Amino acid sequence: MARPYLYITRKLPDEIVDEFRNAFDVHMWPHEEIPVDEETLQHHIQKANALLTMLTDKVDENSLRVANHLKVIANLAVGYDNIDLKSARDKRIIVTNTPDVLTETTADLTFGLLLSTARRIIEANQFIKSGEWKQWSPFLMAGSEVHHKTVGIVGMGRIGSAFARRAKGFGMEILYHNRSRNVEAEQELQATYATFDDLLEQSDFVVCLAPYAANTKGMFGKRAFQKMKTSAIFINASRGLNVDETALYHALINKDIKAAGLDVFENEPINKEHPLLSLNQVVCLPHIGSATVETRERMIHLCFENIDLVLKGDRPKTPVS
Ligand code: DGY
Repeated sequence: MARPYLYITRKLPDEIVDEFRNAFDVHMWPHEEIPVDEETLQHHIQKANALLTMLTDKVDENSLRVANHLKVIANLAVGYDNIDLKSARDKRIIVTNTPDVLTETTADLTFGLLLSTARRIIEANQFIKSGEWKQWSPFLMAGSEVHHKTVGIVGMGRIGSAFARRAKGFGMEILYHNRSRNVEAEQELQATYATFDDLLEQSDFVVCLAPYAANTKGMFGKRAFQKMKTSAIFINASRGLNVDETALYHALINKDIKAAGLDVFENEPINKEHPLLSLNQVVCLPHIGSATVETRERMIHLCFENIDLVLKGDRPKTPVS
């Protein structure tokens, strides 16, 4: 029997992919750092039984029009806003993502981003390396305290809760805002539910971990930043489109808020001329929330496992509902 046709939209490590060559007829985009172009993706979608996609691949109604054999799209991310779920459902294509295996890793990075932004760690590192450190002084690179402050988490799902556990270890008071109440977080972490506005007004740190959806677009805009404390630090590690970056830039230069730590951007990669990158009080990372070797390997394995299950006619481990 012919092996199912699998198209992988980015070059993944041969050591992992080779494990699956007996089971699948594997075709793979040859570049690690360049996303697949539309034409190539279309060409393979026409033939494929399974796709292993990245968050940079836009899989929409148009690209799925030619998907006549496709049974499963395994997205190498917990987020799946790059895939048009309705069009996939209409074509009876199952979409899977990679939750759980990246939760703790992404929470580590988010907390690290908060610490780096509050304590000016990246700026201080640059300061030394560019030869500017002439003398110790009492307020040299003095930042904001983290321990025992109030953190407001917007998006209290798996990653939000894992982040809250870290915050708890720092003695922080935890507020959260979510689509629905997270009773576990309330009981285990003494997290307190707050309306969006109350959270913005009361938090020293506002951390966005909400997945992107049409109704979260630009939720952190001018109004939200003006509600925050002038000493507030804003962290975003979910999706860039949740933030109005022009409003964020103005909030920072007008001192409506103090600083921001960003792992994600409206357009990725962000243009190096983007005004946000010119600000010392902004710490920027290139969307590396789940980027540890161990986690990325777990994510890839989970994608293969999901593909295998669907093609065998079973329920995948982590379908997108
Ligand atoms: C995801 O999995 O959606 C993350 O953004 C990747 O780091």
